[in-house]
Amino acid sequence: MPNKETNELPRELTKNLNKNLCVCYDVSKQDVIDTIKQGAKTLEEVSNKTYACQGSGCCVRQVERLIELLHPSDKSGDSHLDNASDNTSI
Ligand code: FES
Repeated sequence: MPNKETNELPRELTKNLNKNLCVCYDVSKQDVIDTIKQGAKTLEEVSNKTYACQGSGCCVRQVERLIELLHPSDKSGDSHLDNASDNTSI
């Protein structure tokens, strides 16, 4: 019978770990996951430590998703979205 804990991990945390999540800066998905597990809780912290998201920014959503999965109770990543919504009045 398979280990129940292994089955509960989301696929985002178990597949393509050695592929680049950030192709602009050659940052593997495993490197991003390790950085988050070591305490990075915001997109900025992950980016500063790995260089992910510092190119065109096309991997931002993937990094944010991994942060949500690994720190589900931390909503600090929403603050920049709040600021962005302030600019929608025009
Ligand atoms: S893939 Fe990460 S910034 Fe482009």
